[in-house]
This record gives sequence, structure tokens and C-alpha cells, in this order.
Amino acid sequence: MRIYDVIKAKRDGKALSKEEIEFFVKGVADGSIPDYQISALLMAIFINGMNFTETADLTLAMAHSGDMVDLSPIKGKKVDKHSTGGVGDKTSLVIVPIVAACGAKVAKMSGRGLGHTGGTIDKLESIDGFKTDLNRQEFFKVVNETGASIIGQSGNLDPADKKLYALRDVTATIESLPLIVSSIMSKKIASGADCIVLDVKVGSGSFNKDLDFATRLAKTMVAIGEHAGRRVTAVLTDMDKPLGNAIGNSLEVSEAAEILKGKGPQDLKDVCLTLAAHMLTLATDDAYPVCRKKAENAIADGSALRAFVNMIKAQGGDPSWIIDAKKPPVSKYEYKVLSPIDGYITHMQTDKLGLASMLLGAGRAKKEDSIDHTAGIVLHSKTGDRVTKNQPLATLCANDEKLFEQSAKTLLGAITFGEEQPKESPTVIKIITKEDIENGETLF
Ligand code: URA
Repeated sequence: MRIYDVIKAKRDGKALSKEEIEFFVKGVADGSIPDYQISALLMAIFINGMNFTETADLTLAMAHSGDMVDLSPIKGKKVDKHSTGGVGDKTSLVIVPIVAACGAKVAKMSGRGLGHTGGTIDKLESIDGFKTDLNRQEFFKVVNETGASIIGQSGNLDPADKKLYALRDVTATIESLPLIVSSIMSKKIASGADCIVLDVKVGSGSFNKDLDFATRLAKTMVAIGEHAGRRVTAVLTDMDKPLGNAIGNSLEVSEAAEILKGKGPQDLKDVCLTLAAHMLTLATDDAYPVCRKKAENAIADGSALRAFVNMIKAQGGDPSWIIDAKKPPVSKYEYKVLSPIDGYITHMQTDKLGLASMLLGAGRAKKEDSIDHTAGIVLHSKTGDRVTKNQPLATLCANDEKLFEQSAKTLLGAITFGEEQPKESPTVIKIITKEDIENGETLF
């Protein structure tokens, strides 16, 4: 087989066979296909698409391009969650302990933040001593003992995706439905969980700006996951404003702990309880309302907070500021951004708010950049709120005062003000389960 012929077939709009797709993925992973031919095929897929069978074959070939994690040493149902990425998205820090407190097992591999989006691993590393590089045996031990563990992705998980994603990033081929589906689902399938809940973000802080695209993406991911023998539900959630009020690593850990203590912002709480309850529904086959009640009870009776503390301790972290309500680690300087006018906040360009936080040191522009764990933003008002001139809209936190000016400018540039209060939009937009797919809707 020649890669030239595979590229030509896709260029001419033909469907690729399983053998052609496996040949391509193998050549990507072992380096035998040069970048220019990989990029040419990516562009042909971007333009001509892939049908369901091709997308499923691509996903499975990518999943098998590296280690397939075997979670069988962990007793019980293993359930995972994936977010397509957003700003202020600290849901994993809340959901994982809730689900563990309710008896399911979460063996989660997470990523670091890049650009305007944050990453769970960076957030956890803001806890003093917390180790995210456990080996497999340590990882399984923590899950068996505490119900949950979150670690960084291992070196050889889905190497084909690492290469393909890097090339998509520089060849304008990110926004392709089959390429996004195969990228996300191959990693989740290789990670080994029996049940997966996908948090598909929609809005200005996400790569899905469009509800129709997000819905098709979610349906296809559910269908591909079920095809691979996993139980999958997708929840479409709002990312047209940041989730919760905190953006930045230790600030987000504090806010997550607030939710686990029964406090904290309502939008964050809603999304977390919805995702956690769907994870439990898949893991236990109990009805959603029963699982929602279990998740709420785990917060109310303190068992979810205890599960979080147990996981932190088991991974070498110091949870004292989380348990004792002591002051969390804070940055040296603070700066208040004031409202320039009287009126309503009518829109927040959320990716720019993520960028404003990155400019304070909380995120990375490039993969190699280091981050400042205490830097970030606390929002005092969000879309729909009425503000008066000179009222603080946000507090910026940084360890270098020179960073405030550019960040404040970016933050203000991201906010639109108006005379009329905008219509309230739902935080949880839509749920997509296996049954929605079996109703025979066309995916492509
Ligand atoms: N997240 C991924 O892992 N891959 C994509 O292609 C898009 C979002």
C-alpha cells in the first residue's frame, strides 16, 4: 500500500477502508510517513469528511497506536469524564470526589492547560506536594484505597493523536468533526474506563461556538464510544461565560473546595451535579434522579469533601488549606478592574478572559512555558449582571505588578455592556445518551 494512493482516494471523495486507515495511523505513530503527506491527508479529510465507519476505524486505530490502559486491577465499575475544554472549568476537581464518595471508581488521566483553556493537572499541582506522575501500580493503589486518582497522561498513550494534533494545529485542520471525534475518543478508549461522560462545551470560551456542530459532535462521540463497547453520555454545557467565578489554578481549587463544602457559585454546582449524576447513572444503572440525589447527599454529608482530601493525601499533597478553611496560597499583588460605565454585562468573550488570566502567568502560550499557580482572576460580575460605574468587575492576582495593565485591558476588551438585561441562558443545555443515537438520526 502507498500513502500517496490513500491521500488521492480521500482527495477524490472516496471512503477509506479499514486497512488504509490502519496503514495511515501506523505510519503516523512509527514516523514512517512524512509530515507533508500526513498533513495532505488531514486536509483531504477536513474538506471531504469521513463517514461513521471511517471515523470509528480511525478512532480505534489511534487508540491502539500506543498503550491501552488495562484498569482490571481496580475493583468495580470504572467511570471517566472528559471536557472539551473551557475557562474556569474546574469540574473534575468536584466531580471525581463526588463519584468516588458514591461508590464508583475514577481512574482519571488529565492534561495540562494550553492557550486560553486551563488543565486539571496544573490545578492539582497548585496543591503543595501533590504528585501527578504516579506509576501504574501507585495509580491503581490510590484508586482502590480512596475511590479516585487523577494523574497526567502517560508517555505512550495514543502517540498517533499527539502527532496528528500537532500537525492539525499548524495546518488549519482542527475544526473537523471526524478529526475531533477520533482525537478525543481514541484517548478516552485507550484510558480504559467502562463508562465515559463527555462535557461538550458550547460558546465563546470553547472551540465549539455553534450549538448544531456541538450537537453533531456529541452524538458522534457517543455513537463511537458505544460502538467501542463503552457506555457513553454527553452533556452540552454553556461556555459563553466562564464556569464559576475563579480562573487560575489555586483559585480554582479553592472554588472547587467551596462547592464540596455546599457553598460556591450555582452555575458550577449545577454542571458538576449533572455530570456526576450521569457518571453514576452509567456506572450503576440507577435512574438519573436517584443518582442526582446521591450526588447532592455526598456534598451535604461531607463524604465528597473527605474523598477529595483522601485522594490529595494519597497522592502526597497537603490538604490543610482545603480542610481548615485557612487562607489558600495567594499571589503577592491584587488589582481591581472597575466597570467603565453603568449598565448590564451583555456578553463575555470568554476565550479572551482565559487569555487575560494567561497574561497574569496562570496559563501557557506555548507547551514549554512554566506557570504561576497563584495567578488568575476572580470575577465579581458575569453576563446578565447589572453594574455601576467604578464597581469592581474582577480582581486580578499576580506576582508581578507589571502584568496587570495588559491583562486588565484584555479583560475589559472581552466584556460588552448594554442598556438591556440579556436573556438568561441555561448552564446545562442538552443531554445526549445512547438512546438518542439509536433513534436513527443521521450523524454525518
Ligand atoms: N480536544 C482534543 O483532544 N482533540 C481535539 O481535536 C479537540 C479537542
